Parts: sequence; C-alpha cells; structure tokens
Amino acid sequence: MHSFSRRTLVRYAGLLSVAATGGASAALSACGVIDRGKGDNARLPSRQYDALDPRIVTNFTVPLRLPGAEGGPLGILDVPAQPFDLTVRRQSTTILKGTQTDMIVYEARANGRNYTNPMLRVKRGADITTRLVNGLDEPTITHWHGLHVDWRNDGHPSDAIRNGQTYDYRFKVQNRSGTYWYHPHAHGTTAKQTYYGLAGLLIVEDEDEQRLRQSLDLELGVTDVPLLIQDRLFGARGSLLYPSTAMDGFQGVFGDVVLVNGMPGPVMNIDSRLYRFRVLNGSNARVYRLIVIKGGGRLPFHLVGTDGGLLARPQQLTEVFVGPAERADILVDLRGLNEGDVVFLASHTFDPMHAEMEGMSGSGSGGMAGHGGMGGNGRADAQSRLPDGTEFNLLKLTVRRRVPYDLALPTNLATVVPLDTTGATVRPITLAASGMQWQINGAQFEMERELFRSQANATEIWEITNAAASMPHPMHLHGFQFQVQERRGSPRQVADLAVGGQGRLATDLGWKDTVLVWPGETVTLAINFTHTFSGEQLYTFHCHNLEHEDAGMMVNYRVA
Ligand code: C2O
Ligand code: CU
Ligand code: CU
Repeated sequence: MHSFSRRTLVRYAGLLSVAATGGASAALSACGVIDRGKGDNARLPSRQYDALDPRIVTNFTVPLRLPGAEGGPLGILDVPAQPFDLTVRRQSTTILKGTQTDMIVYEARANGRNYTNPMLRVKRGADITTRLVNGLDEPTITHWHGLHVDWRNDGHPSDAIRNGQTYDYRFKVQNRSGTYWYHPHAHGTTAKQTYYGLAGLLIVEDEDEQRLRQSLDLELGVTDVPLLIQDRLFGARGSLLYPSTAMDGFQGVFGDVVLVNGMPGPVMNIDSRLYRFRVLNGSNARVYRLIVIKGGGRLPFHLVGTDGGLLARPQQLTEVFVGPAERADILVDLRGLNEGDVVFLASHTFDPMHAEMEGMSGSGSGGMAGHGGMGGNGRADAQSRLPDGTEFNLLKLTVRRRVPYDLALPTNLATVVPLDTTGATVRPITLAASGMQWQINGAQFEMERELFRSQANATEIWEITNAAASMPHPMHLHGFQFQVQERRGSPRQVADLAVGGQGRLATDLGWKDTVLVWPGETVTLAINFTHTFSGEQLYTFHCHNLEHEDAGMMVNYRVA
C-alpha cells in the first residue's frame, strides 16, 4: 500500500520529533519557507485593515463562496467509484482586492472537473480511495478529522510523506451523516500548513440526513450552507503572515481578518425561509461564540448536529461556543423576515480566560496585545488587531425575496444511544503547562510511544481536567467519536449555557470528536473502542489549538 520504504520514514519521523522538542518557537520557525518569498513581513497598514475589520458591518460586501457542482474552490466532489488524486501544492489566489496571496491547497481532478480544497460528499458505507501527492517541499500527510478509520488511513504523523512521494488511502466511511473535514497532520507543521490553506470539508450522508433534508427542503450549497471559518493575518502586500514568537507558539496564532469559505466580509442573499449552516471552526486557535443578530437583538436558532452528526432532537439556543475543529450544525428560521431585512451571524464577546504568564507582559485577557513585548523572537509587528473574545461579525444575510415556506422542524432527527459505562476503566487526564510547554499527563508527543493502551471493544471514561487554568483547550480524539457525560467546575459563561444535566451544553448532547475544556473544568467523556480493523491501532489524542498540537500537546494511545 505504501510506495515508500518504512525505514526512511521512521528515520525522518525521528528528526521531526527532535525538532519539536526544541519548544514552540523552534517548531514554528522550522518551516518558514512559505512566506519568505515576498519579503512581506510588515503587516497590513491600518487604513487597509479598517476595510477588512469584521467589527465594521459595512465591510461585508463580498458574495459568500458556496460549494457548487461545477468544481473550483470548495466544489462539491461526489466521491467517485474510481480513485482520485489529492495533490498538495502552492497556489496563488486573490483574497484581498488587487493582490495575490500564496496559499497551499489540495487539488483534485475527478468526474471531469478540477477542484481546489474540494468538499467531498460521500454516502455512509461507501469507500474512499484517494492518493495523496505531496507537491510541497516539506512533509505532509492528510488526516480525515472525525472519521472512524484504521490508523494507517488516519494520517498518523509517522506516515508523513516527503516531496514527490504519494500515500494511498482506502477506507470505508462508517460514520453517521454529518460534517467532517480533512487537513494536514505532519508533526510540527500541521498549524502552518493548515494556516496557509490546507483544509477541506467532508460531508457524510445517510437516511437520517435524507429525511431531514426532505422535511425542510434543504439543498447543499443553496439552503444547506457549509461555513468554514478561519482567522488570518495579512501582510502589507497581501501575503499571509504566520507569526512565530514564543507567545504565538504558547497561545496559538490569532488572526484579525476572518475568512468564511476563504473570503473576508461575506454576504449572502437569501429568501425568507429556513437555512441550515454547517459551521466548522477551522481556525488555529480562536474560539467563536456564535450568535444570530437582527437589529441589535438576538434571534434564536436550533442546533441539529455536532461533530459526529445529528442530535436526537433539535435544541433551541441563542448562542453556542465553537472551539477550533468543532462543528455546529444549525438551523436559522428566517421565514418571518421581509425583503431588505438584514441578519448577521456573529461571534459574541466572551472572556477568553488567558491568564497572565510570567515574563509575558500584556498577554492577559485583553487578548493578543502583548505580542510586541516579546521582542527579538520573530515579528513583533504581526499581532492580531482582533483580541480573542471580542465581538465581531461573520456573515451578512440579506433577504432578497419573500417566499412561501411552511415546513415544520422535525421533533426527532436521529437515534443517539447513550454508552453504557458500567465497569468502564476511568482515565484521569490532566492538561497543564510546564514553563512554556503544554503537556498531557506530564507528557509531550513522542512519535513512537503511547501514553496508554485501551482495550479494543471496551468502553472507557476519560476525565479531562484543564489544570493549567490559562486557556481553554479544544481536545480532539482520533479514531473514535465520544459522548460527553459531565462538565464540572465550568466557568460562569459556560455553566450558564448548561442544558443537558450534569453541566452539559447543547453541543455535548451529540457525538463528538473535539471538546473544548475551559480553565478549571473537568469534562468526562465516554468512549467505546469497538472496531473491526486488523491488529493494533495507534491513534493520537491532542489539543486542536494547532500551535499547541505542533508544540507537543499531543499523545499517542494504542488500541489493542
Ligand atoms: Cu483535526 Cu489530529 O486533527
Ligand atoms: Cu482528527
Ligand atoms: Cu491547547
């Protein structure tokens, strides 16, 4: 299956983990190849930034890019019976008016069309057969985020391939219908490669999905709208800036231009009816507190799905936290609106809970204002002008047409059976920082070593405690979806949203692969390790703040 020698790779993997132990800034600066080209180190001047600032409503003027059947960027690629290539390569594209931005993208050619970061659509039970082709000058590997696949198809960092090499994937999609995604996973370069553009959606469909779509008259790319949300920093000449101070490594990289489906300031013309938005937080570090606003007031919406697909029943909400890598599948009912009415999807203000770190003046809950204070190490001027936890807009919706729409929300969406955890092994997992190194149970990532072994087919309880108390951590499990059983010690802004008993949030009521663990919180997960893959499986468990992940906030676990 692999077209390269294992031995070469293992040797290479060893080098990578050595580089990564040098600490956050070393891991980040080890891969500065991309943005060196233009020498565009100065950030966007204020005047240019003002026209992109998502806090300003008049900046929302660019038609939202919708995934279409004709291919192109985000184009819907119905996974064909024939294998197709996913080629990683650089590409120049226009994001800011009048300039070109160097990106890294997945290119595919299938069904007679060309795609950039295609949105893969696949039926549950179907096979995906694809060949990853690395056209970059550094290693990469693709991870299918949320999918239950054997570890050789999961994009484990030890499977990273070098320039010119290929990696063949072949697996059956066993997951429930839902919004999944794919992105790079080579250790030490995941954050940067994702930042520069490598990310795509993967939509799984089944009978539950079919039923929901029919009962609400939803059409993917028209009234069922995926929203990939990513914050980025731009340089004066339009290139992406990836700052690499020690502070950026420690807190994660925050942008100040918010891209939705690849473009800033998006606007979508709508009819007066119900819309579905599949929100994917594809940001490296930023948390969004999603709200829907009309004329200063909030509109309620329904959460119908999470990372692992549909909830049992829709949950009516007025806000939802979406941490990095999490998905929120929401329905917004706009049938009461009139022609010309405007609604914004936005991120509401919250306390990002960044504690003051010794020697990092100004890095408090005010956000990223402290970057300049680090000095010397990287670009002091490449700091976000959009503090973490500040309020800003994501998408403008303008009603263009009144239409008749009288369909009712179904009361039942799918079946979610709670896992039976009687007699389950309980694993305490502590997230903490030692100096400037994030750790999981005192460990940092080691390519060949696992933190523990889980028994195949058994159920376990993982009790994750965020003891570092200086940031929320979006913790992500490979290989299996889990259920959140309980939240304890939640900060007020989270506890206030509890709906499900045991301190759980609406998003905790479905299957999950990523869970945001707030400072001081203990979140209890139930995981069932049943699988039919042959042999032992080596998966990772890590923080999906991608700078944290690259700096070693990741462990292997083995299912044997
Ligand atoms: Cu989406 Cu291991 O990652
Ligand atoms: Cu994943
Ligand atoms: Cu983290």
